[in-house]
Amino acid sequence: VIQARNISYGFGDTPLIQDFSVKIMRGDRIGLIGNNGVGKSTLLRLLLGELQPQTGTVKHGSNLQIGYFDQLRTELDPDKNIAENVGEGRDYIRIDGKDRHVIGYLRGFLFSAKRAMTPVKALSGGERNRVILAKLFTRPINLLILDEPTNDLDIETLEALENRLTEFDGSLIVVSHDREFLDNVVNRILVFEDDGQIREYVGNYSDWVRHGRHLAEMDRPSSQQRDSRPAGGAGVQRKPAKLSYKQARELEQLPARIEALEAETANLQGKINDPQFYSRPHEDVQAMLDQLQSKTAALEDAVERWAELEALQEAFRQRRNELVDRG
Ligand SMILES: Nc1ncnc2c1ncn2[C@@H]1O[C@H](COP(=O)(O)OP(=O)(O)OP(=O)(O)O)[C@@H](O)[C@H]1O
Ligand SMILES: [Mg+2]
Repeated sequence: VIQARNISYGFGDTPLIQDFSVKIMRGDRIGLIGNNGVGKSTLLRLLLGELQPQTGTVKHGSNLQIGYFDQLRTELDPDKNIAENVGEGRDYIRIDGKDRHVIGYLRGFLFSAKRAMTPVKALSGGERNRVILAKLFTRPINLLILDEPTNDLDIETLEALENRLTEFDGSLIVVSHDREFLDNVVNRILVFEDDGQIREYVGNYSDWVRHGRHLAEMDRPSSQQRDSRPAGGAGVQRKPAKLSYKQARELEQLPARIEALEAETANLQGKINDPQFYSRPHEDVQAMLDQLQSKTAALEDAVERWAELEALQEAFRQRRNELVDRG
């Protein structure tokens, strides 16, 4: 797919990459790891052909179709909505040989039909990443190059991405600091090591760690963590790290329910505040007061439940981020 021979590159007189060679074969799934600023993104751009090596050569195989998710996320049109960006103006896109409506396709990337109509400039960083990923997979690509795709992704999106990558049968090169993500998607590791060399290991990140290796800026192996993993089962034992399906649906529906209850209580309160209210028949008065009381209680319950689920989701997100940022 790609063959790099003895390539070197540096900005000014600091060499980043020295005399590096690699052969990337069809179906290889490579994780690229290293501390911040060591030259990972630069190496990707050399492999892509965006940068020319100062010495050595980079050769691409024939029919190579590259999808590139760049760290700066430069490719969306901020004024267009999600569906327009992903479909490039078309309602139907061709995915794995089938025509799919762009809105249906976006559901797989966790965008509701309504959200899909939101202009990209109004999105959060995490949502933007999701749009770029969705767009990337609409193309007929056989080599996917991802530069830190997991930054700002919530756990659901991360898992959706892992699933999509597992189905993807082309070659993959991915830069990431997320150990669990790498364990789930790669089978070769290239490491920018402390001595300035880039070395290769067969296996996933945990296999590399088992050789006693670590980097300052990666999720560092604690012996405890390693011991609790079953031999050979890296990445299999994922803790329940997200809301259950039921909880997620509940969380999704609560804002609408809260809004409806707020409207109902406000409406009742308005009637009760009317100076004529207590001149109504006693049963009516009592019924409305009871109703207000029960609706208010229901509203409080809903708000409390919503806060509880949000906190739970946030805790999952944080746990995830700690795994990503540790070190
Ligand atoms: N266009 C440029 N001109 C000068 N120096 C640059 C340029 N691009 C990158 N560098 C420097 O080269 C070094 C490597 O950058 P690169 O982006 O490849 O690192 P990285 O490993 O991807 O880092 P990060 O983990 O932060 O993404 C950094 O010190 C960076 O400041
Ligand atoms: Mg980088």
